[in-house]
Amino acid sequence: MAILSDVKKDSRFRKTKDFIQHGSTTVMSHCINVAYTAYYISHKLNIKVDEEELIRGALLHDYFLYDWHEKSLENSVHGFTHPLKALNQAKKDFELSAIERDMILNHMFPLTLNPPRSKEGKLLCLADKLCATKETLRGKNRKVV
Ligand SMILES: [Fe+2]
Ligand SMILES: [Fe+2]
Repeated sequence: MAILSDVKKDSRFRKTKDFIQHGSTTVMSHCINVAYTAYYISHKLNIKVDEEELIRGALLHDYFLYDWHEKSLENSVHGFTHPLKALNQAKKDFELSAIERDMILNHMFPLTLNPPRSKEGKLLCLADKLCATKETLRGKNRKVV
């Protein structure tokens, strides 16, 4: 929660609440779900990671800041292009470590060519897919509380 508060401060992170990611889940909720899941997996499997970088990278992995559901040619390739867009936006607001840059840039593997090199990036890749599947299956009709 401390890392989340820090990321929210002096950045555009709150804007991620304005965009839907999957089903009725906002980009902000998705990123928090992914950060929690990646952290949970690392603890359960006793994988030694830099916890701050893991959580920060996960919170910022979809920091692209636009509605990818709007119909456009650009958005039709969102799955391939948004990691670089998210990285470029995050660089404007944050000092990112090499691990955080790796996490953001390579989280869509194997859709994008390069696999994440760091343990934190691999955990993010897994947690993102688990959360995306859960959020998509939950659908659009979930009551938001
Ligand atoms: Fe993504
Ligand atoms: Fe994601």
